[in-house]
Amino acid sequence: MDQSITFTEKDQLKAKPESVQLGFGKYFTDYMFEMDYSLEKGWHDPRIAPYAPVALDPAAMIFHYGQEVFEGLKAYRAKDGRILLFRPEKNMKRMNQSCARLNIPKIDGKFVIKAIKKLVAIEKDWVPTEPGQSLYIRPFIIGTEPFLGVHPSGSYKLLVICSPVGSYFGRNTKPVKIYVEDEFVRAVKGGVGFAKTSGNYAASLRAQTKAEELGFDQVLWLDGVEHKYIEEVGSMNIFFKVDGEVWTPELDGSILPGITRDSVLELLKKWGVPVKEKKISVKKLFKKAEKQKLEEVFGTGTAAVISPVGFLKWEDRVVKVANGETGKLSKKLYETLTGIQNGTIKDDM
Ligand code: COI
Repeated sequence: MDQSITFTEKDQLKAKPESVQLGFGKYFTDYMFEMDYSLEKGWHDPRIAPYAPVALDPAAMIFHYGQEVFEGLKAYRAKDGRILLFRPEKNMKRMNQSCARLNIPKIDGKFVIKAIKKLVAIEKDWVPTEPGQSLYIRPFIIGTEPFLGVHPSGSYKLLVICSPVGSYFGRNTKPVKIYVEDEFVRAVKGGVGFAKTSGNYAASLRAQTKAEELGFDQVLWLDGVEHKYIEEVGSMNIFFKVDGEVWTPELDGSILPGITRDSVLELLKKWGVPVKEKKISVKKLFKKAEKQKLEEVFGTGTAAVISPVGFLKWEDRVVKVANGETGKLSKKLYETLTGIQNGTIKDDM
C-alpha cells in the first residue's frame, strides 16, 4: 500500500465548543481520516481531509446488511501539553478481530495508528483541557459496494472522526441507574457479541428506550439462552464487589472484550484485590445484595471510563448499591486509570 497520507487543508476552521457541557459525541473536529479498499488495490488512498458528509451509493451494502465495525479510543492532554493515546494497539487488535467476524478485510494496525496520530496532531487544539475531558476517536469501516445480494462487500471505506467529550452519562461522578433486561437479549455464543459492530447496538435500542422510560440510564444484559447470567451493560463491561471479592463476567464469545475491562483487571491484580472472571447468576447477585454483601458495582469502558452504579433493578427487585454513592474502589480505579491516561501516574502495567 502507498503509505503516504495526504492532507487537504481547509480555509476556515470551526468554532470550538467553549463554556458548554461537552457531553458525549455531540461536537466534531475539523478533519477526518479516510482510506478505501478494493479487491484490486487492497487498502489505498489514505488521506486526511476536511470533516464532511460521505457520498455513498444508496445501494451500498452498509445500508442494507450492516457490514460495519468500529472502535473507540481517546487522546488526553497531559499537564506538560503533550497529547497522549491510551494503548491504541489494543484497539487495532480488537478491530481486526471484529473485521474477521464481519468478513471485512484486515487493516494494518500500525499504519492506522500512524494515521490517527497524524490526525490528532493536526487537531491538537481540539483536545480538551479540563479534568474528565478528552478527544474521543472513532475509527470505523463500512461496506460500500452497491449490491443487494447478501454477500460480503467488495469495497470498503475506513474513516476516523474525532469528538471532544466529557462524561458519557452527563452525570459526572454521580452513580448510574441500571435496569436488568429480562425480555430482550443482546447476543448469543457464536454470534457477533464479542465484535464491535453496529448491529449489536441497533439491537439494543428498544431495551434502552424501555429502560429510559422507566427512569434508568442503561440496560444490563443477561445471557441469550437462559436469561440467568450477567453479560454486559449497554456501553460498558460490568464489575461487582461482593464481600471483598471483585467479580466480572468471563469472556465467553458473547461479551465485548473491553480494553478498560482489561486495564481494571490488571490494576486489581496489581493491588492484590481478589478478582474473578466468572459466570455470574443474577439471582445469586441479588441474594448477595439483599444480604448487604454487594459492596460496589461499576461499569468500565472507553466512553464510560469507570462509571459507578447506584441502583440495580431486576424484575420487581431494586437494590441500592453503596448507598447510591460512589464506592471507594470505583473512585480509586477512576483516579488511577485517568491518571495513567493523562500522564500523571506512571503506566507500569
Ligand atoms: C466505547 O466505550 O468506546 C464505546 O464504543 C461505547 C459506545 C457504544 C459509546
